Amino acid sequence: MASASAPRDAPPVVGIGIVGYGMMGKAHCYGYTLAPHVRPLACRPRLCVISGRNRAAVAQAARSYGVKRAVGDWRALVEAPEVEIVDICTPPGTHAEIVAAAAVAGKAVICEKPLAADYADARRAVDAVNAAGVPNAIGFNYRRLPAVSLMKQMIDEGRIGEPRLWRGTWLSDEFLDPEIPFDWRFRRTLGASTIADLGAHLIDLAGWMVGEVVAVAAQSKTYVSARRDPKSGASAEVDVEDASAALLRFRSGAVGVLETAKIAPCRPCDFVVEVNGTDGTLRFDYARLNELWYGDVRDSSHLYGMRRLRAEHASHPETAGWWPIGQGIGYGASFVNQAADLLQGWPHGKWTPDLAAGLEVQAVCTAIEQAAREERWLEVADVIANATV
Ligand SMILES: NC(=O)c1ccc[n+]([C@@H]2O[C@H](COP(=O)([O-])OP(=O)(O)OC[C@H]3O[C@@H](n4cnc5c(N)ncnc54)[C@H](O)[C@@H]3O)[C@@H](O)[C@H]2O)c1
Repeated sequence: MASASAPRDAPPVVGIGIVGYGMMGKAHCYGYTLAPHVRPLACRPRLCVISGRNRAAVAQAARSYGVKRAVGDWRALVEAPEVEIVDICTPPGTHAEIVAAAAVAGKAVICEKPLAADYADARRAVDAVNAAGVPNAIGFNYRRLPAVSLMKQMIDEGRIGEPRLWRGTWLSDEFLDPEIPFDWRFRRTLGASTIADLGAHLIDLAGWMVGEVVAVAAQSKTYVSARRDPKSGASAEVDVEDASAALLRFRSGAVGVLETAKIAPCRPCDFVVEVNGTDGTLRFDYARLNELWYGDVRDSSHLYGMRRLRAEHASHPETAGWWPIGQGIGYGASFVNQAADLLQGWPHGKWTPDLAAGLEVQAVCTAIEQAAREERWLEVADVIANATV
């Protein structure tokens, strides 16, 4: 649909609907707004509709984020004829139903991680987009950071040899204070486990860089098991773990360690991914997100140690259209790159990572959750075979 004022050779408009106006609703709107600034796209993303249950708040969000229209019910957004892509930014437990409705309406779907709060719902979401044959993508935005993408590229190039050890740690303190009131993040059916919330990104990166995770062992712990519900004033049960640690076995024979915690004092959103191969080591530390640490045993012995690469060089992946090296490419850029990567060839081209990738991650999360409950090793395939669908 071309607007009257657009130049004759302007690419066609694609209408976007954003479900949810919280942190991710804001981040995704930012991504669509800036994507055409960094890269020539096959279309012009237009923020048409945003939905939310609080009418005043969603109307304000529409004004702030530059969205044309606000609606109170996501169903009205899915049905809006001008919306071609439904972008879901609500809590995990709401995702599957919205994905399915969008797919049935023939809309393309972009869904925030984790795909769902449990495996059965995630499976339903993937079945729905497959049945409808609509383009679909999961919001693993950290793949779009230059340093993370460079890490994957260097592993594929064989620069660390055969990966043997994978290590991922995500530490935050968002659950530390027992006085933090109850909200959706503390109810597993809505917010998913901490393993799925924080771990989904890391498990995605593990699968992307090292391959399929086939077996897991784990332990989890909840320290604050009840919180005050601000609406009723009553005590509400928390069924989401505060911290979890897992061991992973990859199909390749590599082994891994995954730690996720929301009660790590003074750690805001600190994540680290490290891969040790037969010939070298790569390490990414999110607090220094424009850097990648690299050590190569094939170096001359007097160069022994880890060197710091500046992962914002124009030759690096996901830097196209950004600032000259040295200026920094940040968190927000991952959402701009996500929008640009997906819309670059719209409506053609396969979107990646897709919801099926989100389902694979959900399978590992589900296996870790069960392994922690049973305190033993589990094969991911066995857990999935027994998952209720
Ligand atoms: N990729 C990332 O970096 C990243 C970062 C944070 C969150 N997330 C994911 O994005 C999704 C949304 O998280 P957020 O941080 O934007 O949350 P948020 O609390 O800031 O916003 C949630 C939005 O969903 C709406 N909503 C709809 N149904 C709801 C319900 N039943 N309960 C509560 N809110 C409901 C809220 O009104 C609000 O608009 C989650 O899946 C989360 O895991 C991803």
